[in-house]
Amino acid sequence: MRSLRETVFCNLTIEMRIIFCALLIVLFCSLQAQHVAEARRPWYHNTTIYQIYPRSYYDSNGDGIGDIQGIIQKLDYIKSLGCETVWCSPFFKSPQRDFGYDISGYTEIAPEYGTLKDAEQLITEAHKRGMKIVFDMVMNHTSDEHPWFKESASSRTNPKADWYLWRDKPNHWRSQLRTKGWHYVKARNQYYWASFLPFQPDLNYRNPDVKKAMFDAVKFWLAKGVDGFRLDMFNSIYKDSVFRNDAASRKVVSEHYDTKGFKHSITGSVNQPESFDFAKELRSVCDSFGERMLLGEVYGNHPMVRRFLGKDRNDGLTLVFNFEMLRFKMRAKYFHHIINDLERDIPRPYAPVYVFSNHDRRRSMKRLHGDMAKAKLLHMLQLTVRGVPCMYYGEEIGMQDYRMPYSKSLDPIPHQYKNVPRFLVDLAGETMNRDEVRTPMQWDTGTAAGFSKTEKTWLPVHTNFRQVNVEKEERDTNSLLCTVRALLNLRKTVPPLSMGTMSLLQSKFFPKGVLAYKRLYGKEAVLVIMNFTKDKKEFDLSGNWERLFGINSLDGLDKGKVSLGSYGGIILRDTGALNFK
Ligand code: NOJ
Repeated sequence: MRSLRETVFCNLTIEMRIIFCALLIVLFCSLQAQHVAEARRPWYHNTTIYQIYPRSYYDSNGDGIGDIQGIIQKLDYIKSLGCETVWCSPFFKSPQRDFGYDISGYTEIAPEYGTLKDAEQLITEAHKRGMKIVFDMVMNHTSDEHPWFKESASSRTNPKADWYLWRDKPNHWRSQLRTKGWHYVKARNQYYWASFLPFQPDLNYRNPDVKKAMFDAVKFWLAKGVDGFRLDMFNSIYKDSVFRNDAASRKVVSEHYDTKGFKHSITGSVNQPESFDFAKELRSVCDSFGERMLLGEVYGNHPMVRRFLGKDRNDGLTLVFNFEMLRFKMRAKYFHHIINDLERDIPRPYAPVYVFSNHDRRRSMKRLHGDMAKAKLLHMLQLTVRGVPCMYYGEEIGMQDYRMPYSKSLDPIPHQYKNVPRFLVDLAGETMNRDEVRTPMQWDTGTAAGFSKTEKTWLPVHTNFRQVNVEKEERDTNSLLCTVRALLNLRKTVPPLSMGTMSLLQSKFFPKGVLAYKRLYGKEAVLVIMNFTKDKKEFDLSGNWERLFGINSLDGLDKGKVSLGSYGGIILRDTGALNFK
């Protein structure tokens, strides 16, 4: 008996056979071309990022403060987790009034963190393990204790007089914190501009010497082998050249992407056209050292983010955080919407950055009210979606915010808003005291949760460290840590998860509260299905799929029927359709 294939082929005319073969060749070539294009994709578009707040990660010398040697000692842990790139918040010379985001020496290391040698060793040790290491560059401003500022502030005629932004009279701009941004200096009888806190004066990038000095600092670290930079407050780099006043705004509360709010619209001190050009210039400096990551802290809507990335081709910053997700809602509809918008606005070859926690904002676990099941699902989304996941230290074990009084905070921010009652900030689902999200990493149940040999740590250890710590979760295969590790491992070994295209599947084909998307790489297809509700879900699925991973044993596929437990999720691999068998 003839097979179906033979029957179909024999009934075709010669011409049709030729066309059929040509189509097959075209299909084959385009799949090959996709492989080649993917192989050429820069590493930073396929990587996974782990953010370390050095002061809180691991204290190697027992002074209660985390340090660079501490990070080096924990690189094996990060490697075992499966994260490929480590981003360290700043450890450069600084008076530490904003814990390193106020730099007074760009090529020096703050003594409490170590030495230049330690920083070099960190780069070497990361590379030895096949990992990438990214430092934090604060280009927008320096500390007011930086020698550049001291000189600039000393008179109106010194050689650095024009290195910062000085004016005889303030205009009515407000800082990013919506507080006073102009600050008086008697020696010059003038005001300087600070986009953030008063002790962080903004540099004047219209002065070519400033640009050169900062590019020299960047080159200094690139020459030492660092794999790139996270860029602080990158959309504030340039200000309006003639300091035009900002407009008023009707908006009372601002949103993440919005420069309007609190009755004020910040326009003159953000998103200036020169900043987009500066991104390209910085990119070319970095490119001359090879493929280096430039990860921008930019608050803006997607079109604005695209301008920083390079509007028509990705020749600006290589990545920009998608901060909208710092206030995520644990709902399928919410993520459907977010993914849909990101796929439309930041399509390949650009890559969005999925980030749910950082050193400035509430931890994701706080937003999830400590619910481990939800945390596993959130990580599943972060690690299977198209884009670069960025995890904050401790997120992998479910560390939570540690509530502390605003009045005693080491973080300078709460002291700026002494009159704002805490319950209002709580109502908004935020915290002003960033100490709460920067507590020491919880390694084990020992002294200071294994973070330090001393109990006197710079910030207190969260009281939940006996339940939430690395050692305990490593022993429990059902823990969040093991789930995250398994997902990261899967991402490495199943190419569609890190490199594939992405298509969201229409929600009408799935029960309410279920989110599904397909990742496709060459001939391989993977389907991710997630239940964002507490109710069990069961439904039919057509096609030939096999289960690669499930959050719980309940999450499975049997004879074409998918079952998902409460906040469950599965990853399936296509065993048929595209394999031409
Ligand atoms: C943004 C950083 O993430 C934050 O921690 C810092 O305080 C400000 N920029 C000022 O540098």
